[in-house]
Amino acid sequence: MRKICVIGTGYVGLVTGTCLSELGNKVICIDNDTKKIAALKKFKMPIFEEGLLDLVKKNVKNKRLSFSSDIDDGIKSSEVIFIAVGTPPREDGSADLSYVEAVAREIAVNMNSYKLIIDKSTVPVETGNQVELTIQRNLKKDIPFDVASNPEFLREGSAVYDTFNPDRIVIGVKSKRAETILREIYSPIKAPVLVTDIKSAEIIKHASNSFLATKISFINAVANICERAGADITKVAEGMGYDKRIGRAFLNAGIGFGGFCFPKDLEAFSWISRKLGYDFNLLKEVMKINDGQRKLLVKKIEDALWVLKSKVIGVLGLSFKADTDDMRFAPSIDIIKMLQEQGANIKAYDPQSMDKAKEILKDVKYEKTPYAIAKGSDCLVILTEWKEFKNMDLAKIKKLLKHPIIIDGRNIFDPDKMKKLGFVYVGIGIKE
Ligand code: UGA
Repeated sequence: MRKICVIGTGYVGLVTGTCLSELGNKVICIDNDTKKIAALKKFKMPIFEEGLLDLVKKNVKNKRLSFSSDIDDGIKSSEVIFIAVGTPPREDGSADLSYVEAVAREIAVNMNSYKLIIDKSTVPVETGNQVELTIQRNLKKDIPFDVASNPEFLREGSAVYDTFNPDRIVIGVKSKRAETILREIYSPIKAPVLVTDIKSAEIIKHASNSFLATKISFINAVANICERAGADITKVAEGMGYDKRIGRAFLNAGIGFGGFCFPKDLEAFSWISRKLGYDFNLLKEVMKINDGQRKLLVKKIEDALWVLKSKVIGVLGLSFKADTDDMRFAPSIDIIKMLQEQGANIKAYDPQSMDKAKEILKDVKYEKTPYAIAKGSDCLVILTEWKEFKNMDLAKIKKLLKHPIIIDGRNIFDPDKMKKLGFVYVGIGIKE
């Protein structure tokens, strides 16, 4: 059992802190957002994440997990400190590391005994070095400490599962002492542990996300070729995916990747590469293809409806992917704005993200069911692959729509079946 302080209760911090308490540690989760902490104490989760609330309740009850805004106390009372604060993108694409730096200074001034400081936030290479330097500069007494990098690979929507069932645990350290503590913390989890230097661990995170994003843009580019050639991208992806060296995962063509990880990490990796003297042009092309997919979907809607002005477009799905309420960098934002610019009227439904969407997307008529969306709409547009949409009563949807047109940005239906049901069905990279 270790005394752990997790600073930052965003996606990564909240899930990590909760899961570490479930593993038997005594964890205090810190955030300077006092409202968020007050809500967490009342078991009001800031995010929708399968299984998280139950784990929070269980571990608060057994006194292994607590929430506080008192960072000084959190640091002083813990031996292990995870930094999980935000690293949002700046105008030039680089990561804003001011929160990480501020936490490093706080740690230094509150250092009362040996501490292991672990960077859990996604950061550019060399951040670990800077954190170490910052702590060293601001230390009041000569107290030993270690800095480590322990990147997170959890996906939103399955964050708790991913934390307990990771493909690997990456530990970037400089000392045996840090390695021993981290190995012990993760010992209940069955996964390969890779121990590296701190810089390699930092690059593993950026490179992994960038590679996955590249895979998505690659399949989207192939989907564009399939459309022109009259081939079927789902079959092509299946055929490629059987090759173990390629793998089927992340070969789903669609409206491109969104969320708070891939777009910002790609930019940040590209930025740090440039700073280090290497122009990672491949990543620029990945982003370009990704932007193009949003425009492509709008073009497909135009092709189906001709003039968009005054047409009613029913949108199903707003979050950047299924099983999350996260709207950050969601393709739906760009797509709906482009449609509105052309004078279309938008109705929208999402099972989880509507409260967050209402803050971002104005002049949208939000409805409570997919059927209310279909009713009277000139076409239906699918932007998120929620299971609820896959299980819809399609005969009912067809009756409710003004015209039986579905533009599917996620390829959730079988095109042949849809045609048999009498829909004009338009997907991504499939024959029409
Ligand atoms: C991603 C990574 O998958 C995690 O390993 C990583 O820890 C996380 O970022 C992070 O850095 O914190 P996440 O952003 O939650 O996780 O979502 P993904 O499941 O990776 O999906 C990202 C985007 O790609 C979504 O918009 C999704 O719809 C899209 N996508 C995914 C596709 O368009 N096609 C695919 O085949 C797969």
